[in-house]
Amino acid sequence: MTFDRSIKIAPSILSADFANFGQEIRAIEDQGCDWVHVDVMDGHFVPNLTFGPAMCKAIRPHIRTVMDVHLMIAPVDPYIEAFAEAGADVITAHLEAGPHIHRTLQAIRATGKKSGIAINPGTPAEAVAPVLDLVDLVCVMTVNPGFGGQKFIHSQIDKVLSLRKMIDDRPIHIEIDGGITPETAPLVAAAGADVLVAGSGVFSGGSVAKPDVYGQNIAAIRAAAEAAQS
Ligand code: DX5
Ligand code: ZN
Repeated sequence: MTFDRSIKIAPSILSADFANFGQEIRAIEDQGCDWVHVDVMDGHFVPNLTFGPAMCKAIRPHIRTVMDVHLMIAPVDPYIEAFAEAGADVITAHLEAGPHIHRTLQAIRATGKKSGIAINPGTPAEAVAPVLDLVDLVCVMTVNPGFGGQKFIHSQIDKVLSLRKMIDDRPIHIEIDGGITPETAPLVAAAGADVLVAGSGVFSGGSVAKPDVYGQNIAAIRAAAEAAQS
């Protein structure tokens, strides 16, 4: 993975057909996505359950781009090694998942993977400042984590602006997760985001039998973001 600030579209397979991940991943990659976003939920840190490292390992051979694993689990430290072994390229943990985010990020870096920190809508941008040297990506949640298809929280845009200033010329991605559509993508791109996660925004209306719709959705989000990127 080389670093740049070009717009990257990362469909969340939380909105894909869970019985058909292999073909779904092939479809979104053939249709031009940049990363594949994998939402891991534990029914404890967030009120929903998805899958663990075994599923990540099973889908890894189907991913030709970047496997972006978003861990919504607490505790997180005992599972980092397993997700690294499952083949994640980026491992993102939540700042709110425990008292020792610095240790968590050190543990992710120790696996040789890219490290990400995610912050919930109620967490200020300043909270990531003390650990910026340990991260390759900051994920700003623009919904409360747990479910796809929620409404974008507009108050998070100022947070993206603050983060962009704080990051300055460091090689750190700003990822946005939740409620991304062609309407909201330009708002966060203009504020400084480069990785846009989209679940319902990419998968709605399409299927592996109708992959063109995925392509149209990806292209619409990308075009709107690129036109607004600062
Ligand atoms: C929410 C997840 C998101 C979610 C986004 O907890 O982290 O990645 O799938 O879904 P949309 O794009 O539908 O808001
Ligand atoms: Zn996510």
